[in-house]
Amino acid sequence: MCGIVGYIGSRQAQDVLISGLAKLEYRGYDSAGVAIRNGTHIEVKKKAGKLANLSTLLEGAPLEGTLGIGHTRWATHGLPNDSNAHPHATEDGRIVIIHNGIIENYLTLKAGLIERGHSFKSETDSEVLAHLIEEAYSGDLYEAVRAALGQVRGAYGIVVTHVDHREIVAARTVSPLVMGVGEGEMFLASDVPALLPYTRKMVFLHDGDMVVLHDDGFRITDLAGNPVVRDIEHIDWDAEAAEKGGYDTYMLKEIYEQPTALTNTLIGRLHDETGEVNLDINLDPASFKRISIIACGTAYYAGLVGEYLIEQLARIPVEVDVASEYRYRSPLVSENTLAIVVSQSGETIDTLEALREAKKHGAKTLGVINAKGSSMTRELDDTLYIHAGPEIGVASTKAYTAQVSAMLMLALWLARARNTLTDEKAKELLHAARELPRLVEEALAPERVEAIKKVAEKYAHARDYLFLGRGVNAPTALEGALKLKEISYIHAEGYAAGEMKHGPIALIDENLPVVVIATESFLLEKTISNLQEVRARAGKVIAILSDGDTANAVHADDVLYVPRAHEMVSPIVNVVALQLLSYFTATALGKDVDKPRNLAKSVTVE
Ligand code: AGP
Repeated sequence: MCGIVGYIGSRQAQDVLISGLAKLEYRGYDSAGVAIRNGTHIEVKKKAGKLANLSTLLEGAPLEGTLGIGHTRWATHGLPNDSNAHPHATEDGRIVIIHNGIIENYLTLKAGLIERGHSFKSETDSEVLAHLIEEAYSGDLYEAVRAALGQVRGAYGIVVTHVDHREIVAARTVSPLVMGVGEGEMFLASDVPALLPYTRKMVFLHDGDMVVLHDDGFRITDLAGNPVVRDIEHIDWDAEAAEKGGYDTYMLKEIYEQPTALTNTLIGRLHDETGEVNLDINLDPASFKRISIIACGTAYYAGLVGEYLIEQLARIPVEVDVASEYRYRSPLVSENTLAIVVSQSGETIDTLEALREAKKHGAKTLGVINAKGSSMTRELDDTLYIHAGPEIGVASTKAYTAQVSAMLMLALWLARARNTLTDEKAKELLHAARELPRLVEEALAPERVEAIKKVAEKYAHARDYLFLGRGVNAPTALEGALKLKEISYIHAEGYAAGEMKHGPIALIDENLPVVVIATESFLLEKTISNLQEVRARAGKVIAILSDGDTANAVHADDVLYVPRAHEMVSPIVNVVALQLLSYFTATALGKDVDKPRNLAKSVTVE
């Protein structure tokens, strides 16, 4: 998830690009770069690190020209450094591109291009696009870009310039792209914030759209070249709000970004026809005798779901540890142990140190990480990136659901290599995984969100809360309780529902709201009897039920319906309701949900 901008008009492009990138830096801050055409050639300037580094570089030698493109990077392929920074140019510098997204088949394309004499300056998937366009170019830039895109698979927001053409060509599939319509000037960006200072007339490009921008206008087509009409919309957001994409907070925006984040986590990794997953990990899944999952906070709960899935599907013993304990309990680890560390930031010191501890004892180490180029990734044997994009809200949401979906893919990866899963079962689970973006989209349907908001406001003044779940959803109860604690400061506990009667049941009275995750499961009956134990002590039951389960609704004070999902993926769908419950409770109490007290986005101290 990077930030991209483009400009053609009468202003100095450098100013427009730099101010636009500054508004998009929350999308990625691993490197930044611009390319500006000034009639005879295109000048490219790029630098690793925050945008400020590039600004310093340009201070000394500003670039002249009124047509340009700019990029701020969230690294996916290739470390955050100058050569992997965008823009990427062809060897002769005549074609320059910027890209946001992932080209799935870039390795195959790159191999073919190298065979045909192309040489590459970066490790990125994106650079392949510049060379494909060069190969297809015979005087018409639009046609060359269209031909190049016909060969790629994956997600892209791409913007292209050519030294011989006073125009910008762009296209999008999955990655967002917005066009700004000015008087005698045109703008492009991956998000609205970059354009608001210049225009409020926006055209949101759809998947499969291509556009050619000129000083005085634009034309949109589909990838087949057929003309397409898109509305020009008037945007009345203020800049601050825009960065939040029109949402009140980053947390809410990130909750709504989960369908896209999950798409990016799964993209290119599921092979329906064979029931295989391709995680591109250079470790041998069949060589391990046991697995240690190590993490902190929300990431630890994703690990608990992973334990359930991996033991169920791959039949290999799994231990899950909080990192701050793991590193001091001299864990029993050997060379046939796979130590999986889970971390959004890749910087959490406890997890980093636990990783070092596991390595010290000979374990192979694999990271389930969001932040590319983060410290952990430099010390791991290999990394499975979740590609959830920058998560700015301190309370983790989209990174959690992406981490859990990565756990499912790891369980399938291990199970397939160890033949503990039939083709048919594997395909069933792959299908369930593919359904996730749609199911989470459904879980965010306005009427469901409204129902959750009502329940949250009803119990916002509770002193305590209890969350109960069973089986693969026992960790979901823990995550629900953590989200509520983090941003509303209400004391909340999550428990395996069957464990409640061994103590926590003493807490229950008519003032205690108890969230019971009772979605479709082979354990549903057991969960319902735990729910009735709560009712028997006058506890206020908020039941999370699968769509259509009216039979069990009678046992609850409040019911929140969630989309029906395969049990093994249900933790991802069910937690969305709990994220929103905590969100609306915190906002009802007037809390700052993006920057909750006492917390930091990545805990780099012990
Ligand atoms: C979750 O909402 C919290 N921000 C916190 O528990 C977090 O999950 C924990 O600090 C781990 O962070 P990491 O994933 O960046 O390592």
